[in-house]
Amino acid sequence: MRVIIEPDYASMSKWAANYVANRIKAANPTKENPFKLGCPTGSSPLGLYQELINKYKAGEISFQNVITFNMDEYVNLSEEHPESYHSFMWTNFFSYIDIKADNVHILNGNSKDLVRECEDYEKAIMDAGGIDLFMGGIGPDGHLAFNEPGSSLASKTRIKTLTTDTIHANSRFFDGNLSLVPKQALTVGIGTVMEAREVLLVCNGHKKARALKHCIDGNISHKWTSSMLQMHPRAIVVCDEAACDELSVGTYKYYLDKERGNL
Ligand code: GLP
Repeated sequence: MRVIIEPDYASMSKWAANYVANRIKAANPTKENPFKLGCPTGSSPLGLYQELINKYKAGEISFQNVITFNMDEYVNLSEEHPESYHSFMWTNFFSYIDIKADNVHILNGNSKDLVRECEDYEKAIMDAGGIDLFMGGIGPDGHLAFNEPGSSLASKTRIKTLTTDTIHANSRFFDGNLSLVPKQALTVGIGTVMEAREVLLVCNGHKKARALKHCIDGNISHKWTSSMLQMHPRAIVVCDEAACDELSVGTYKYYLDKERGNL
């Protein structure tokens, strides 16, 4: 695992956006051979999305030949709801870049057959040739997408019931009203993310310090599902200083020294 420690949220977002843009450019995607990008929601990637929008506007990158697969979506929340992940993606990213609507894939949490919806999503990822780069955030309880504590580390796309922790954390998007937060979601599995050729997580703020510690400094555990990335051959976690508050001194220094070329 590669860990990048940046001073603050702005530089973390810039680093991550540069990396993503460079990977897309290096792949030289075409209509026949597009780049497959996995997309998260949440507040953590907002800066990364804004930086990618800036790069598009500056003519540095195009998304014409990029196919996206989002990580997750709430169950039983209309797509038009401002807090649906469909709305989130168009409001914060897709509307400002040259992506083709047909190339956007987001799970349908209102499907009549949710099991089938999840199976079809996995198939669509496979048919597209797999995900080249899965971007992600980390929940305060260490979850990746909506793979809550206790999720199978081999899981594929499926329905998950949200934990009380997550319902509390996400109530900030629903006027602080717990009863308005959907209780279930469709989510790619940890196994789905592990099959991506590369994974890049962004993690910022003191509120994520425990999650980051368990992700990179702890044992692999289904109680902290992002820790499974320790098994991924090409995983990068980009974080800010505040998120490092609970890392061991040795881990913190090692990753800083490594990136500064002191090791
Ligand atoms: C939600 C999403 C996750 C995201 C997490 C953290 O639960 N399903 O994919 O990583 O929130 O959100 P934030 O970045 O707002 O802290």
